[in-house]
Amino acid sequence: MAQSSNTKTEVIKAAALLKEGEVVAFPTETVYGLGASIFSPRAIGKIYALKGRPSDNPLIIHIAHFSQLELIVDWYPDAMVKHFWPGPLTLLLPKKASVPDLISSGQPLVGVRMPAHPLARELIEKTGPLAAPSANLSGRPSSTTAEHVREDFGDKVFILDGGPCLCGLESTVLRLDPPTILRPGSVSREELEAFMGVTIDTASDQVEKPLSPGMKYKHYAPEAKVHLVHEEPKAKSRRFIIRELAPENLYALLRLADEQGYEEIFILLNPKIQSDPALMNRLIRAAE
Ligand code: TXA
Ligand code: MG
Repeated sequence: MAQSSNTKTEVIKAAALLKEGEVVAFPTETVYGLGASIFSPRAIGKIYALKGRPSDNPLIIHIAHFSQLELIVDWYPDAMVKHFWPGPLTLLLPKKASVPDLISSGQPLVGVRMPAHPLARELIEKTGPLAAPSANLSGRPSSTTAEHVREDFGDKVFILDGGPCLCGLESTVLRLDPPTILRPGSVSREELEAFMGVTIDTASDQVEKPLSPGMKYKHYAPEAKVHLVHEEPKAKSRRFIIRELAPENLYALLRLADEQGYEEIFILLNPKIQSDPALMNRLIRAAE
């Protein structure tokens, strides 16, 4: 992909800020991330503060090269990472003691993924591994454009603008032993089962202490009340109705409804939406 010198300058600026211990928002193929160097506890602390994120909710480490894995984890499934990365799959792996505990909220397993977005890769090549949650205020819909990040953080963070995210929903989070999907994403259970040759569970949100701490907090929710319906509502009051929904547009639509001051959002379900576990997971949470 031809790249403007402007983009190059922006990547250099973002990398310099990260090396100074600042927080920077960057694009990935799933959603925008709010990144900090994994070896800057101060910057990692800033991520939690900026988002208003509870400290028991761990962050995912993003890498650009397989060689960077050795800095972070004691072990990794070689064939599996080479098959699924770069891409929207986060694996929980045994963390090296040198990685700050703040990243994994004190847990022995840390989430790692290699994003596919060229700007993310270029940035992380320059900075080394970055810890990054989604670039939204805690509880708000994730950001799929630079504009969304600006809505939530104003000019408090530098934003590397890579245009709209292609997937638009966060990565699949997989624990390996026992194999369990903690958060569905665009890498499907079927693909993972076919590769691993085992049956994979999907963690229930209902368990008392959820395996993925993030799942116990309110998520992906706009200010407006979200209703999932099978038929268009008849009442004439002012309502934001979503009749066609592709995964990559969900968060932009939820944010648009808020921006336009709607109090209620109706999302019309159809068999295509209902057959997409990642999309249904986010819709159910948004409607809670
Ligand atoms: O696509 C994505 O995964 C995006 C982009 C930026 O990479 N990131 C993202 O991060 O969605 P975040 O922090 O918004 O969501 C991470 C989820 C949370 O539900 C968190 O609890 C879970 O992954 N998680 C992270 N590390 C974990 C760990 N060590 N054990 C269990 N769950 C973990
Ligand atoms: Mg998030």
